Amino acid sequence: MNNRSPVDAIDLNSLFEHLLSGPLGQMNAMEQNLFRIQFDLHMPDVLRPLATLYGKRPDFAAHLENMLEIVARAYASRSEELRLLDLRRISEPDWFQKPSMIGYVGYVDRFAGDLAGVKERIPYLKELGVTYLHLMPLLKPRPGANDGGYAVMDYRQVNSAYGTLENLRELTAALRQEGISLCIDLVCNHTAKEHEWARKAVAGDPTYQDYYYMFPNRVMPDQYEMTLPEVFPDFAPGNFTFYDSCQRWVWTTFNEYQWDLNYGNPAVLAEMLDIMLFLANQGVEILRLDAVAFLWKRLGTDCQNQPEAHAILQAFRALTRIAAPGLLFKAEAIVSPDQLLPYLGLGAATHKECEIAYHNSLMVLLWSSLAERRVVLMTHALQNMPDTPVGCAWLAYIRCHDDIGWAIRDEDAAAIGLSGFLHRAFLSDFYSSRFPETFARGMTFQYNPKNGDRRISGTLASLAGLEAATEQRNWQETDLAVRRILLLHAMILAFNGIPMIYMGDELGLLNDPSYLDDPNLADDNRWAHRPFMDWHQAEQRHDWQTLTARIFQAIRSMIQTAKHTLNLHAQARCYAVWTYNEQVFGLIRASARGKLLVLANFSEHDQIVPRHRIHDMGFKGVLVNRLGEQPLDSWSDLKLEPYQVLWLEQVSED
Ligand code: GLC
Repeated sequence: MNNRSPVDAIDLNSLFEHLLSGPLGQMNAMEQNLFRIQFDLHMPDVLRPLATLYGKRPDFAAHLENMLEIVARAYASRSEELRLLDLRRISEPDWFQKPSMIGYVGYVDRFAGDLAGVKERIPYLKELGVTYLHLMPLLKPRPGANDGGYAVMDYRQVNSAYGTLENLRELTAALRQEGISLCIDLVCNHTAKEHEWARKAVAGDPTYQDYYYMFPNRVMPDQYEMTLPEVFPDFAPGNFTFYDSCQRWVWTTFNEYQWDLNYGNPAVLAEMLDIMLFLANQGVEILRLDAVAFLWKRLGTDCQNQPEAHAILQAFRALTRIAAPGLLFKAEAIVSPDQLLPYLGLGAATHKECEIAYHNSLMVLLWSSLAERRVVLMTHALQNMPDTPVGCAWLAYIRCHDDIGWAIRDEDAAAIGLSGFLHRAFLSDFYSSRFPETFARGMTFQYNPKNGDRRISGTLASLAGLEAATEQRNWQETDLAVRRILLLHAMILAFNGIPMIYMGDELGLLNDPSYLDDPNLADDNRWAHRPFMDWHQAEQRHDWQTLTARIFQAIRSMIQTAKHTLNLHAQARCYAVWTYNEQVFGLIRASARGKLLVLANFSEHDQIVPRHRIHDMGFKGVLVNRLGEQPLDSWSDLKLEPYQVLWLEQVSED
């Protein structure tokens, strides 16, 4: 009996020979050899996950061949300039981990009108110190409501309101010229129901019906629903939608118009691979892979974080690396800390999944500490997170375009004597302005009566107190709000990974209620924290008498300092330490390059950290605060002003 699986039968040499019969064969020997190097390097990492996913299929070899043909075609059409960039990235594998990497994220239209407008704003980004620009979904969305562009109709066209593919290529080239890498969203978990594949599926084409999850009746959907949570319980309850047009129930995790793709079908993986490489060849350097936790469904589970979802990402990575070795993946997996680490690649997949992932827990803990004026939960929770793999970077952020869900684990809360449920309820109250003493102005997003979850919308500045304080013309409160804004930025700049500034936060932009006038947006209050860039206000950044200038210039100056602080390299270890002052958070960044001690006062009162505590943390002798001008002596206790952050380095032994 023959026990060999279809995977064992793969002969890499003949596969490569086969590829030479396509466009690769037209390239010169040097180019073919460079391809061969990447092919040899990555094929084991292609086969491992693909075997997990599709290894038992008799047509495995044909699908593999198809995927590699896609890869070889993309390599053959990659521009010389991008191939040189690939070489540069391979030669400097830690390029995205350096302290000089500073991220900025915004919507094309809200930031600058269109892609050409973004190009014109490059000097602004440079002034701030940005080296990584994430533009929110910009591929052709469905008309009407489209979840902020997360319902894509055509992945090979740019949203016509923003420009053309040509404009995108021009923008990537201009950004590259200025040392800024472009990241865009790739919505790989679902398409718009108007996508060509979905239309063909509706028309009854079985090939395309197999691209989605379609069921003739409620039998399977009902079974799945027993263990599935709801992402948008308010405006899109349930996970399946019935369509008269095709008499089928379709899997729709998010909105009704976003159809989940079926990665059980290798043809879907191949299509998405082709799209990824197409985008990489336009000059996109980082793909933000949307909603990756949902990529694989398994009955009896919550259908998130399945091992196969990781295998899909690993296959994507290894395959894309062969053609475009400089391309990076950023995982958008808003999941608990223990589920998050595997997206950065663990075990056999170490360094072989995504290079960057959102640090959702850090974001939540920062807001939690600010509301509580205590850092005990944050210290405990961060200490209990596993170490970050060295070749990766967190995306450290305070606000993004999404709501804040209080992902605080019951175990972490219990360990420090809090009830997880009550603490989450407190945070929802605090940030939706229900808590009497709150400084925050936010809104409840998606109240879920089944588990009591209330997520939060609101801009950083409004949540940090600037909206309420300026409205009340309370200057003391305004000062405190500005300090909170700066504290949060000092934290993400000091954490390991890429700090990501959300458009407008550098100016302190407040909640924008204008979304209520647009019927396509009105039911989704996340638009309140997706304001239009106020370029008039931005002009004030040079006028020192304005709040805008105070915020912008302070953030800019911290960015400049961060860029020159070697200990902020993402490979430096990053761990929380107890300062024995419940209001002061302590973080150490340590590597062979040296050590940095970050102290952050999360309260509106002065705080003291005794010098012997600083000694115990391994920082003796003369210290400098990289965020301040005054030298520090080597003996007195350290005093932190309200919301002050110190970045301390030891300059001498005594
Ligand atoms: C991600 C996006 C979110 C969107 C969802 C569905 O979570 O960040 O805005 O609603 O995916 O695409």
